[in-house]
Amino acid sequence: MLNEAKPKKTSYIAKIPNKNGHIQYTDEEDSIWHDLITRQIPMLPGRACPQWINAMNEMNFPKDRVPQLKDISKTLKEHTGWSVAPVPALIPYTDFFKLLANRQFPVATFIRSREQFDYLEEPDIFHEVFGHTPPLTDHRFAAFVEAYGKAGLAADPKDHSMLARLFWFTVEFGLVNSSEGIRSYGSGIMSSPGELVYATESDVPERRPFDPVTALRTPYRIDIYQTVYYVIESFDQLFDLAKEDLLGHIREARRQGMFAPTFPPKEAA
Ligand SMILES: [Fe+2]
Repeated sequence: MLNEAKPKKTSYIAKIPNKNGHIQYTDEEDSIWHDLITRQIPMLPGRACPQWINAMNEMNFPKDRVPQLKDISKTLKEHTGWSVAPVPALIPYTDFFKLLANRQFPVATFIRSREQFDYLEEPDIFHEVFGHTPPLTDHRFAAFVEAYGKAGLAADPKDHSMLARLFWFTVEFGLVNSSEGIRSYGSGIMSSPGELVYATESDVPERRPFDPVTALRTPYRIDIYQTVYYVIESFDQLFDLAKEDLLGHIREARRQGMFAPTFPPKEAA
């Protein structure tokens, strides 16, 4: 994950795979994964989009232990040629974009502690793997994330935070229309039981039809439930966006200017 969407400091240490690509987790860490995934799966019907649920079933995540990245990569490769790459909790924008452009999704390998079971600002392996990897089996979503990485590599550094907004309102916190109502596909929603209900069912947040320039003009906070979500019609919309000039959209968003925040400012710590 890229820095802008992350807190400045982390108290976690990423786990390093051994020479066979295996990452050792403790029994307690495996048990935290078990408790997270078995809490979240029953929440999905009626809230996650059906393609996402099907994709999660394809991923066939273990319930009793933290999954191994090499197994995740094997499944992704079979579908779309993607893989996952272990990274420290925080990586620079350029590393992030480079990985995505090469169809590698960066994954922080630590798992949250029991004390932060319900909420942590940093993306841990539950967020990264459970939240992010299922839609990467869809060729349309996969093409969009690759195009996003390529746009990031071509972008001026001053545009990196603009690009982060596009990622935020699609890959992280995207909603999608379905014949049965609004559903989620964004990883930040899919890995949070509270925000999954809030994003799809609450009357509090605003849900706007997705438009890339509009999303690029929208500020966000990482530490609260979102006040605005953007709703795509289907993954086809992301596939079409992958072929558009994302940097041109940034220029247009700058020309039109940022929207005022719809949330209160963050209180000083
Ligand atoms: Fe994420």
